[in-house]
Amino acid sequence: MSHNEVESAGRTRTVLTTDGLELVVEERGDPSGPTVVAVHGYPDDRHVWDRVAADLAADHHVVTYDVRGHGGSAAPGSPAGYDLELLAADLRSVCDAVSPGAPVHLLAHDWGAIQTWHAVTGEDGLPSAMDGRVASFTSVSGPCLDHVALFLRRRRPRDLRPVLAQALHSWYTLAFRLPVLPELLIRSGLLGGVVARTERIPRPAVRDAVNGLELYRRNLPRRLGRPRPRRTDVPVQVLAPRADAYVTPALATSAAEFAPDLRVRYLPGGHWVVRHRAGVLARCVREFVAERTGSDPAPALARARSRGAALVRSGGRPDTATRWEGSLSVVTGAGSGIGREVARRVADLGGRVVVADVSEDGAAQTVDLVTRRHGPGRAFPAVLDVADEAAVAALAERVAAEHGVPDLVVNNAGIAVAGSFADTSAEEWRRIVDVNLWGVVHGCRHFGALLAGHGEGGTIVNTASAAAYLPSRSLPAYATTKAAVLMLSQCLRAELGRAGVGVTALCPGFVDTPITGATRFAGTDDTTQDARRRAAAAAYTRRGYTPQRVAARLVRAVERDLPIAPVTAEAHVGLLASRLSPALVRAPARVDGTR
Ligand SMILES: NC(=O)c1ccc[n+]([C@@H]2O[C@H](COP(=O)([O-])OP(=O)(O)OC[C@H]3O[C@@H](n4cnc5c(N)ncnc54)[C@H](O)[C@@H]3O)[C@@H](O)[C@H]2O)c1
Repeated sequence: MSHNEVESAGRTRTVLTTDGLELVVEERGDPSGPTVVAVHGYPDDRHVWDRVAADLAADHHVVTYDVRGHGGSAAPGSPAGYDLELLAADLRSVCDAVSPGAPVHLLAHDWGAIQTWHAVTGEDGLPSAMDGRVASFTSVSGPCLDHVALFLRRRRPRDLRPVLAQALHSWYTLAFRLPVLPELLIRSGLLGGVVARTERIPRPAVRDAVNGLELYRRNLPRRLGRPRPRRTDVPVQVLAPRADAYVTPALATSAAEFAPDLRVRYLPGGHWVVRHRAGVLARCVREFVAERTGSDPAPALARARSRGAALVRSGGRPDTATRWEGSLSVVTGAGSGIGREVARRVADLGGRVVVADVSEDGAAQTVDLVTRRHGPGRAFPAVLDVADEAAVAALAERVAAEHGVPDLVVNNAGIAVAGSFADTSAEEWRRIVDVNLWGVVHGCRHFGALLAGHGEGGTIVNTASAAAYLPSRSLPAYATTKAAVLMLSQCLRAELGRAGVGVTALCPGFVDTPITGATRFAGTDDTTQDARRRAAAAAYTRRGYTPQRVAARLVRAVERDLPIAPVTAEAHVGLLASRLSPALVRAPARVDGTR
């Protein structure tokens, strides 16, 4: 075995190519199951699929093979033997040998995907090399070369950044086309060592790495020089790792211009997700095969389909619609104020939302607002006290079962207690800590585990407050809970980053919501409390910052994956001041803001 971590458990045989080369082909699983043919990239051999294949073999007929010149397969006698047309014909030969009677599901990575795209697309309305033989195609980190060339020729102002980013990611392809030097770097072990270390993969075999150079040398000049808009009607699923060092997600999803039956899933991780996230990859393929064989699409795949359709409409250019269309959000405290407007905003952007609130009426009203605007099936009520861990755990479980794993979770439910420390009772402390801090902890624990375990990223937003970094003698309990939420969010962000889950602490200043009407003013009788509530409400209304604006800022913070998102001018200035001079923010803290 060249570089595999899992023992091959398959049956191997050879398949003859159209030009007489022997390819090593390995089959696993039940031959009567749906056939998945997986094509490896550069510089790999078929064993790069071992983990994915072992997983899929439980209920599929899984076929992997060594591409010509790689692994145990024979190498062509001249560089011309690496032309894409021959590689596409090889794929056809393998598929005809292993599944003569039924179309196959293709799965391909890197150069495997490049050759598979070539095989499933046709030029100028002509049939493809795989015409009628493909049930589905899952493409990982490898675009059609003609699509690459057309992507790099995009000239709209908004295209400049992604095109430049991709050009920078492609520098090595020029280096590989130099004579002799790449061979020297490979044979010295230098190149393999660097790739193995940076990508955390086993060292590639020298033969694979040297032979595969011809893939670049033969095909890049021919395809990039005179690109054709090669198209396919095959159902395609693009898996785009967000941190791919060679293929940017923008390039991967530009396929939408040429593949109208598209699903797109962004995955956390780099180029070798096929090794590092084999379980997630296998699930993506399994869900796609199931959809193609007549099952209802799994929620994550349905979401990928909405995103794909939005990308097709936008001409393969990601925009706000492609980000939110079909997405699922869970918002706590969504029965009023900021939470309600966040729910409405994500629905306006094309998403679905679980509206969770301790107030059944509040949740129902929000759902009603969304339903009146967008029709049924877009907002779902959930009565929830965030302080009740079992209830939060049950909601996470229910959401996953009924709607799938959310893309966004907003732990927003909160209450306010104002008044001096001396006036605030232990009971008032307990309740605000239960809701504002424990509520967020429960939400992060149960939904965070869901998002991290799912392996397809997502975002958690915790509503803190500018009070998190602005001390005040009149809000000791509230500010303490919000400071804890801010720190918790940053710690969690560090932990969940590897799973591709973003965590944002939202820190609004004064926002005109009903919160003032429910604020507990510690140490006051009912009459004084009512007067204080009215005064606070009037002040917040005068400030005039609406929850709709907060919702818009939250959406932008999610899109930009911000760690801390101050909202309102006072929140921005306060954050800056607290960083530049803590003494500056301690001085106004002595003013009693409740009077
Ligand atoms: N309004 C502001 O000026 C402001 C500023 C900074 C931060 N915040 C924070 O924003 C969040 C939303 O506040 P808002 O201004 O929209 O207030 P709001 O009172 O309008 O909305 C809060 C919602 O949370 C719900 N809720 C309360 N306790 C709950 C519980 N235990 N479980 C589930 N739901 C519960 C309420 O029923 C209500 O629907 C809060 O965390 C608040 O601390 C508000």
